[in-house]
Amino acid sequence: MATKIKTVFFCQSCGYESAKWMGQCPGCKEWNTFVEETIKPSITGKGSKRAAAGAAGGSDAQNKPMKLSEVVLNEEDRFDTHIGEFNRVLGGGLVKGSLTLVGGDPGIGKSTLLLQTARLLSADKRKVLYISGEESLQQIKLRANRIGEFTQDMNLFCETDLGTIEETIRRSAPEVVIIDSIQTMFNENVSSAPGSVSQVRESTAVLMRIAKQLGISVFIVGHVTKEGTVAGPRVLEHMVDTVLYFEGDRHASYRILRAVKNRFGSTNEIGVFEMRNEGLVEVSNPSEFMLEGRPENASGSIVTCSIEGTRPILIEIQALVSHTNFNFPRRQANGTDYNRVNLLMAVLEKRVGLELSSYDCYINLAGGMKLIEPALDLSMCMAIVSSFRNRAIPDEVIAFGEVGLSGEVRSVNMPDVRISEAERLGFKTCIVPKTVAEKYAKKFPKIKLIGVSSVQDAVGMIR
Ligand SMILES: Nc1ncnc2c1ncn2[C@@H]1O[C@H](COP(=O)(O)OP(=O)(O)OP(=O)(O)O)[C@@H](O)[C@H]1O
Ligand SMILES: [Mg+2]
Repeated sequence: MATKIKTVFFCQSCGYESAKWMGQCPGCKEWNTFVEETIKPSITGKGSKRAAAGAAGGSDAQNKPMKLSEVVLNEEDRFDTHIGEFNRVLGGGLVKGSLTLVGGDPGIGKSTLLLQTARLLSADKRKVLYISGEESLQQIKLRANRIGEFTQDMNLFCETDLGTIEETIRRSAPEVVIIDSIQTMFNENVSSAPGSVSQVRESTAVLMRIAKQLGISVFIVGHVTKEGTVAGPRVLEHMVDTVLYFEGDRHASYRILRAVKNRFGSTNEIGVFEMRNEGLVEVSNPSEFMLEGRPENASGSIVTCSIEGTRPILIEIQALVSHTNFNFPRRQANGTDYNRVNLLMAVLEKRVGLELSSYDCYINLAGGMKLIEPALDLSMCMAIVSSFRNRAIPDEVIAFGEVGLSGEVRSVNMPDVRISEAERLGFKTCIVPKTVAEKYAKKFPKIKLIGVSSVQDAVGMIR
């Protein structure tokens, strides 16, 4: 008897499953993302059950309940990737038997990062298998030549059939496997095309099982496309242990690796890299990097300090306020929250009395950085006023603080870390919330802390 083939519709953007086609996805509200896929019900069920069993603890043979006190942890359960910034994002090193998804826009540097990791791990005598479904061996070699010499031999494998891949992994027993990318992988048990939601989900389930059963750390690369034509890795986020996003402005050279989910560490940490000719280079002092090329004595520019995870980053905020040519003034925010900029402009109009309604305003975070933090409020207000009055703020001034609707300046978290970073980089004056200035004036004798209790006080200094 012929097996009954079931067809379902999947949203290619978020993985929402539906029995019938729909114009708009109820899950992610995207339009036109439903694609029909045929699935054999038995396969999906079996795959995910097996993966869950594997995730719960080892091979089927040993799979029985155990006392928590009997579970032993080995020292070796985490290992060093030899890239400090990468270790930091992973929560202190790569966990054995973990499945990590590295997502990011096309061409951002995912393959480069993982090939560099593979290089350093194999130099550390770890057995690494790099599986590519996108590039030929020669193309990988080209990239490898760009990033440096490989001291130890590393195994490369160009394959997209997951059955063959599983067999190879079981035979060669590597410690680390890199899959580039999950959208190219093909599981013959699933009839839909590579990159479809069911393929991606099934392939990830298989890799999860391999990772947990054999204690292999697996990295998978996932593409993100705006059009939603390829299954976004969002579908996978629930399945994998760690989700890292590699982001950055493609026109700027720096790249930021951010953990969005991490079962083994904090998701606050970021890793900063610079894309160079020879590959990705760690940036351990992001503040210096971000302030490079800052204009001198320019109106509308001020430096602020943001906290990313546990690390302070100094960043230049630029504002341009100019007469509008339209009935409605234009407001634009690059790298920060547009609504927040509008709110701060309303506060400046009402509390400081600036007539901003006939002016366009553009806010830009230099270097293409993206930051949304209330601590940037005060510096944004000061940049706007500086541009409006066309008066430059001295270069050695930095400001941070949250601005409330009545124009009050409130304290923010970790003020001492921010001040000491400013001091370290040679800033002389720090405009901070009043409470912060009172508390830390003695602790930082080398930097002048000016406490302000309202935004009027702060912008009053720009004359
Ligand atoms: N010689 C070079 N000098 C500087 N940067 C380079 C050089 N060659 C490549 N790059 C950078 O590396 C990027 C490609 O990196 P990589 O292939 O690792 O990205 P990816 O995220 O894997 O892309 P894809 O999504 O296509 O797989 C390019 O976009 C470019 O920015
Ligand atoms: Mg790639």
